[in-house]
Amino acid sequence: MTRARITGVGAYAPKRILTNADLEKMIETSDAWIVKRSGIRERHIADENEATSDLALRAAQQALERANLVPEDIDFIAVGTTTPDMFFPSVGNIVQHRLGCRRAGSVDMLAACAGSIYSLSIGSQFIQTGKYRRVLCIGAETLSKITDFTDRGTCVLLADAAGAAVLEPSNDDRGVIDFDLSSDGQYWNLLYMPAGGSRHPASHETVDARMHYAKMKGNEVFKVAVRMFVDSTVRVLERNGLTAADVDLFIPHQANLRIIEAAAKRVALPMERVFVNVDRYGNTGAASVYVALEEAVSAGRLAPGSLVLLAAFGGGFAWGSLLMRW
Ligand code: COA
Repeated sequence: MTRARITGVGAYAPKRILTNADLEKMIETSDAWIVKRSGIRERHIADENEATSDLALRAAQQALERANLVPEDIDFIAVGTTTPDMFFPSVGNIVQHRLGCRRAGSVDMLAACAGSIYSLSIGSQFIQTGKYRRVLCIGAETLSKITDFTDRGTCVLLADAAGAAVLEPSNDDRGVIDFDLSSDGQYWNLLYMPAGGSRHPASHETVDARMHYAKMKGNEVFKVAVRMFVDSTVRVLERNGLTAADVDLFIPHQANLRIIEAAAKRVALPMERVFVNVDRYGNTGAASVYVALEEAVSAGRLAPGSLVLLAAFGGGFAWGSLLMRW
């Protein structure tokens, strides 16, 4: 079967930077605490008038340019996001129109921070089956818009960014080899946003009770997340007769340096072969793997033929991994 290969990547983060020193002035915290527990030093935060599609559009434009394509070439747009501009239409629809992808269908996927792996995997299927030839995959978030900046357990972690990748058919063995998509809804209340949906529609009461913000049981998330990273990455490697020793670069969801280090240790991947930029971006949800991939490519960390392993986990819980030959 034809593999789907990434032919262009893009990334964008809002100009405004919020440092740990800035947070020290807003809540009872310290730079030392944040760095020790999460590895985060600064993050990008969208302006009041900047929405998720604004970031997605910039990342998508860059990915298209680098793939040497024009918007009319795109057959389909697959977006991973937890923070769309509005309930509907989708970010995919807004990007389709603003970019001018006149022939493209589009959809958003909600797999929280695993939205990167879900959107890339589903996008790659359209290429593999021969249905489409050019798919634009995007991960975009403005998590700051659902962050309670009085909750120090979450507000030091979450941030905003977008990344994109163009997928096209490969004519050799480069491209997506395999992926694993998993979910387990029993963990829904470890990380979720209570109101704004059909369970608790927006009301004065939900606003007063601060129910339109992400809630997280950090400690429990930590334990489950490490296990999920390991389960999924080992499964996808084993299924393809590979081990961690074959992986040239592991690009995990950038939630927290301690989670990344714990997972890398368990799968026996030395940190020299793990891409980390959480220190400069924080947790950007469905965007994080795309942004890290773009930085890895720009930094020359990937050569043609490199074996790349991507993995992410997020609220739901939803998690997964994707293996590709660069
Ligand atoms: N600054 C200073 N102290 C803080 C703080 C902050 N920003 N946030 C929490 N604390 C305090 C707590 O109130 C608690 O104080 P107490 O002992 O007096 O009650 C103490 O630090 C320890 O809290 P705890 O939640 O047990 O800390 P932790 O070691 O688990 O670290 C996280 C907290 C959130 C950094 C950690 O649990 C984590 O990274 N979890 C995973 C989160 C994640 O990645 N989510 C995204 C998934 S996609």
